[in-house]
Amino acid sequence: MLVSAEEMLKKAKEGKYAVGQFNINNLEWTKAVLLTAEELKSPVILGVSEGAGKYMTGFKTVAAMVKAMMEELKITVPVALHLDHGTYEGCYKCIEAGFSSIMFDGSHYPIAENIEKTTELVKVCKEKGMSLEAEVGSIGGEEDGVVGLGECADPNECKAIADLGVTMLAAGIGNIHGKYPANWPGLRFDVLEDVKAKVGDMPLVLHGGTGIPEDMIKKAISLGVAKINVNTECQLSFAEATRKYIEAGKDVQGKGYDPRKLLLPGTEAIKQTVREKMELFGSVGKA
Ligand code: 13P
Repeated sequence: MLVSAEEMLKKAKEGKYAVGQFNINNLEWTKAVLLTAEELKSPVILGVSEGAGKYMTGFKTVAAMVKAMMEELKITVPVALHLDHGTYEGCYKCIEAGFSSIMFDGSHYPIAENIEKTTELVKVCKEKGMSLEAEVGSIGGEEDGVVGLGECADPNECKAIADLGVTMLAAGIGNIHGKYPANWPGLRFDVLEDVKAKVGDMPLVLHGGTGIPEDMIKKAISLGVAKINVNTECQLSFAEATRKYIEAGKDVQGKGYDPRKLLLPGTEAIKQTVREKMELFGSVGKA
């Protein structure tokens, strides 16, 4: 059964570890993340961007696939199905489709409008027992068409949004979606500390988990980050393993073109990346 992310993040915050959000793109991705979470007895959040939802033919398909897969694979660890960087309309579609968690990315709106729409969604999510993530500041780079300039969050705005009763808060602290440029100056821990001082016990979310050095991840967790999003790194692992398979000519040996064989190395590579992240985030054995 899908669960809201509230309980798992509360426990993570108290236990000083983070739960990974791994974005899914298709059946192989979903299977790889769920099986790894179960094997490592880790709670997990499956992230679905609006673009990925559309690719998988719609949020209803995604919700039905994830629920059925959890049943057939006998998944026992807590799993939240979460809309990533949702628009206002996308949030309602996911609520209707049976997701257990949503992110309303109101960072593109003026703060007053972000507050108004978030207030409304807090009420709906409370009624449905769903968790809600809000964003202040913006995550740099581009993810599935969502482009951010990477402004750091204003701690007072964070407090205003946190006080509305959201479950978790993504605050821009110099993090970027996709690969980090060589001259990236690193996470702004000063901003993170100011945000934490304002929002108290609210679990904080670190987007752009791909490529953040381990020491920065650990420091971020020590400062109140309880959810870390990873997307690009699984895509890179999948692509690299698939390329190796094809470059080695394995797709033309015997029945190597069988999709179940062709997609296997990539799927195994996703599992390995998810495993490494769960170990780094400290969520192994916490289910
Ligand atoms: P990366 O693609 O950089 O890992 O970021 C993922 C993310 O933040 C999803 O919201």
